[in-house]
Amino acid sequence: MNKHQYDVIVIGAGGAGLSAVAAIPKGLKVAVLSKLFPFRSHTGAAQGGISAALGNLEEDNPLWHAYDTVKGSDYLGDQDAIIQMCNDAPDAIFDLERKGLPFSRLGNGKISQRPFGGHTKNWGESPVRRACHSADRTGHMILHTLYQQALRRETNFFDEFQVVEIITKDNSCCGVVAVKLSTGERHVFHSKSVILATGGYGRCFKVTSNALSLTGDGMAICYQKGIPLQDMEFVQFHPTGLHPLGILITEGARGEGGILVNSRGERFMERYAPSIKDLAPRDIVSRSIYEEIKAGRGIDAKDFVHLDLTHLGRKLLDEKLPDVTGFARTYLNIEPADEPIPVKPTTHYAMGGIPTDVDGRVIIDPDGSIMHGLYASGECACVSVHGANRLGTNSLLDLVVFGKRAGQHASIYSESSKLSELPSDAGYDSESFLQQVRSNTRGPKVYEIREKMQEIMMDYCSVFRNEEGMKKCASLLSELREDFQKVTISDKSNFYNYEMMAAFELSCMLDVSEATLHGAMLRKESRGAHSREDYPDRNDQDWLKHTLCYQEKGNDPTFKFKNVNLGKFEVKARVY
Ligand code: FUM
Repeated sequence: MNKHQYDVIVIGAGGAGLSAVAAIPKGLKVAVLSKLFPFRSHTGAAQGGISAALGNLEEDNPLWHAYDTVKGSDYLGDQDAIIQMCNDAPDAIFDLERKGLPFSRLGNGKISQRPFGGHTKNWGESPVRRACHSADRTGHMILHTLYQQALRRETNFFDEFQVVEIITKDNSCCGVVAVKLSTGERHVFHSKSVILATGGYGRCFKVTSNALSLTGDGMAICYQKGIPLQDMEFVQFHPTGLHPLGILITEGARGEGGILVNSRGERFMERYAPSIKDLAPRDIVSRSIYEEIKAGRGIDAKDFVHLDLTHLGRKLLDEKLPDVTGFARTYLNIEPADEPIPVKPTTHYAMGGIPTDVDGRVIIDPDGSIMHGLYASGECACVSVHGANRLGTNSLLDLVVFGKRAGQHASIYSESSKLSELPSDAGYDSESFLQQVRSNTRGPKVYEIREKMQEIMMDYCSVFRNEEGMKKCASLLSELREDFQKVTISDKSNFYNYEMMAAFELSCMLDVSEATLHGAMLRKESRGAHSREDYPDRNDQDWLKHTLCYQEKGNDPTFKFKNVNLGKFEVKARVY
């Protein structure tokens, strides 16, 4: 195997990974590994904005932002982490501005801000304009700005390297094993610290806004090494995916005044969230859309509703929502200035992930014990600032704030530690996996298992869930896991063997689907994005706690529970 040595290794070149890089002093030797070319990282798909209580248009306050985030999380978010994030937000925005991010501007030159779901002023009184944006290409601009800064820093990029295993020894992480996609060679990256910033796993579901690359790799390679995954039952369904493709139509469209209507032309959100209507948090809007569809009020009695932007006028659409209106024109031949856009909920974001503290250090048990040298940030991590439901624009904020903090802490840790010796079995697990897949001769293809998994996760583990459906899903999923032992690939070559990598990604998706489904079966209440038809109420007495899911090879996973960090904001009924 090829060997490399670094002080810090960052896995993933999206917003979280590159924010970490920007925080690492130049004296440290850093490598960034990405299975993609960095510009293809999914941060680039984030559209509507990044929140911070700048108060550029009306009074705002980081504590109001924190209150909204806690309430949005259905009280499962850790309040210390949330307050940290909301307090750090204004500086994070100014830092991006200084790094060169071209924000949209107001007439007075200040950064433009718009309303987003669940963001309010004065403790829920009325919507506030808090989302700083670059038209509807905010994530794209963040990604390019941070990448340019990483190049300036002379970071070593290993593009198109798929990380397949983390190397751990005596409760410390000392590197990773990666496959170089162009040659199939395995490389060991030996390091003092590793920061995982590998994104989410929307591709486990049939309809998603997520890119093909979002397959839960970082979460799965931790899970396989005995590290738990936290709160995996909480998966966000964004209300406005372009029907039938699932491509994201930003919530910023409703922030600019767009409304959702049913087949009768009714603005139905008035009934479900009378005070903030279309700008309710995503879990509520997604459920409301399905309620309308169930009641036969979907458009043409089908499974979608309309997002009406026609009253906003072409000038505003071209100026503030150019990308999403372009999607409607390109994919559906619809002119949003003249006709409504068909939309339905689409799998969007994982609230759960690798448990961390506010410095990005990976936690391995309910007492907060640390896996030394291992960090995670962004969507693959669960710090937890989103709890049971994330507010729109808080994901970009999460990744810049906690990406930076992970970079800072990993630097301090690496400066004061030595490279530990690699264990003798480093890379053994991934090598046996790849050999097994290569040697299988009879069995299902990757796409056959993947499609079945995506279908059952969408059918039984999406916006609404119940015991009967999830039990069925669990039995089908374990059959798929058995089938996967025999998965065959036709391409046995070494060069750009995407079929082999798709098999690896599928193994990761099967793992994180298992954690999600079993977490959803275990949690017998409805909270945030986890909505059980058989347990429709929130149950704070028994369930105001985080789940930690541990893999048990060959068996169902086991769970432990971790306390929620409460504090400033009282736990209340969540009404909008
Ligand atoms: O709707 C959106 O623009 C998505 C933003 C987010 O997920 O934060």
